[in-house]
Amino acid sequence: MNLETNYLGLKLAHPILPGASPLVDNMDKVRRLEDAGAPALVMHSLFEEQIELELTARHYHQDRHEESFGEATSYFPDDDEFTLGPDEYLERIRRIREAVSVPVIGSLNGIRLGGWVDYAGLIERAGASALELNMYFLPTDASESAADTERRMLEIVKAVKGAIKIPLAVKLSPFFSSLPHFTQELEVIGVDGIVLFNRFYQPDIDIENLEATPHLELSHPAELRLRLRWLAILFGQTKATLIASGGVHRTQDVIKAVMAGAGGVQVVSSLLKFGPEHLQTLIKGLSSWMEQREYESLKPIQGSMSLRHAPNPEALERANYLRMLQVWRT
Ligand SMILES: Cc1cc2nc3c(=O)[nH]c(=O)nc-3n(C[C@H](O)[C@H](O)[C@H](O)COP(=O)(O)O)c2cc1C
Repeated sequence: MNLETNYLGLKLAHPILPGASPLVDNMDKVRRLEDAGAPALVMHSLFEEQIELELTARHYHQDRHEESFGEATSYFPDDDEFTLGPDEYLERIRRIREAVSVPVIGSLNGIRLGGWVDYAGLIERAGASALELNMYFLPTDASESAADTERRMLEIVKAVKGAIKIPLAVKLSPFFSSLPHFTQELEVIGVDGIVLFNRFYQPDIDIENLEATPHLELSHPAELRLRLRWLAILFGQTKATLIASGGVHRTQDVIKAVMAGAGGVQVVSSLLKFGPEHLQTLIKGLSSWMEQREYESLKPIQGSMSLRHAPNPEALERANYLRMLQVWRT
């Protein structure tokens, strides 16, 4: 049986890979991921803020952030809280490349055009086979319209794409007025893949100390449904590889994501919880599920439950919402 998939133009042995996470910070875990069958490794992100810290004097950086984001600087990590500085990050890519035989995908994370974009080229030169660009952006400024925000994002994507020859994936948030339109704009720039979605780690409120308290909880399989819906909508509307990220914990989650249209499925929370070897469980699970149903490749499965091909596409659209509200009983 053939589980091969085209992932950003890279031919991968199967579609299940470890997503951006601290797993790659530890060389033992990197080797365990490869032993567990990872067909590629996604680096954790190198952040715009980190790079800008390095490129400019620190006080200038902080003033700038206070003005532009309105976020208190005390919430930005100190430079020694980042696991790896920008140069160490590039060095880590080189080390991982030497240690494993699978492709390494770099990850850049930023929201404003600046010198940090040059790191796209440096990541390529360090040996990355592809790059993921994460634009984790929260619009808080009422004077910037949705169109302005999208234009700025597209400018960043264009700059990053122009700096590299390796394939580029863009990791997005689910909050767009028209995601299909935005993905088309990304395709025009030449983006090779779209990662759906970033998870937003909403801070809680400490009501005694009047503080916002940061929270990072690992995901739950229920979070996959948001990804399934958008995978299903986008499948067939873009040539870019659609990649699911968020809520993939079990074999059935992988199968659902592929059926909705994913060419790749990234896994993080369940690997952090159960260890890198969980990847092997998912790969074996996919393989035996396909064998039992006599599928010889992913082709007949991929997109079979997309909006284009599902036997009941209305279940993915507004009709589902109407029905759910009407049939609910206590
Ligand atoms: C501890 C931790 C660190 C992460 N670091 C990054 C990162 O550096 N860059 C990034 O794009 N995503 C990062 N993510 C998000 C994951 O790549 C992924 O999108 C998210 O966890 C959803 O997938 P999951 O449900 O399989 O966990 C991180 C997630 C966790 C839990």
